[in-house]
Amino acid sequence: MSRPYYIAGNWKMHKTRSEAAELAKALTAQLKDGKHRYLIAPGFTLIETVAPIIAGSNIRLGAQNCAPEEQGAHTGEVSVLQLKDLGVRTIILGHSERRHVYKEDDALINKKVTLALRHGFEVILCIGELLEEREAGRAEAVCETQTVKGLEGVAAADLDRVVLAYEPVWAIGTGKTATPEDADGIHAYVRKVVAGLYGDAAAGDMIIQYGGSVKPDNAAQLMSKENVDGALVGGAALKADTFVPIAKFG
Ligand code: PGA
Repeated sequence: MSRPYYIAGNWKMHKTRSEAAELAKALTAQLKDGKHRYLIAPGFTLIETVAPIIAGSNIRLGAQNCAPEEQGAHTGEVSVLQLKDLGVRTIILGHSERRHVYKEDDALINKKVTLALRHGFEVILCIGELLEEREAGRAEAVCETQTVKGLEGVAAADLDRVVLAYEPVWAIGTGKTATPEDADGIHAYVRKVVAGLYGDAAAGDMIIQYGGSVKPDNAAQLMSKENVDGALVGGAALKADTFVPIAKFG
């Protein structure tokens, strides 16, 4: 059971093409000797610009969402076929902004997860509780439901292309980070849930990232915890100055 550290940058709805190119070039150069696994997920319109810059580097190309259907009359959506065509290998699904701002439910997210896996993508499935859910003592239950429903119908053979990201909603973009102990506790719990579904070996291999106000000064501490296998970084992923030290922690 040796899990690689996996550090992902979610650029959300930021940057123009020239800004994206500049950041991608800086990251490619500065992470060249990085020891961990890396990914950046630019907005859809930036993917074609970023793809050739990071091609052949140790940074994977990700997208932040996909449609639940392969193709068809889905105005405003982006399909797995279109993402594959651009060289995307990984899709972030179920991000809390998708769940809570754009009202995606577990069934829709699961449809996207199974579709993306069927098309050979790696999926980063995000889970995490709201502040009121945590205060009501329901953090574990919420994460369990989102994990179980998100993975419904996912074959054991495909599980090595699934990464989980625990992102407590109250910690995203707020500057409030879960303590390393809080994060480790939920990660351990979720790993148990995965063990119940797929067995101990598969659960032991599952990479579980933490996300929510990860910064250069808290990254190493978070990732020193046994069950924290990496980070999904938002705000601090927008500049090489802040992403590189996180990506090169340790
Ligand atoms: P943050 O975002 O690092 O800005 O809190 C994390 C995320 O939403 O993935």
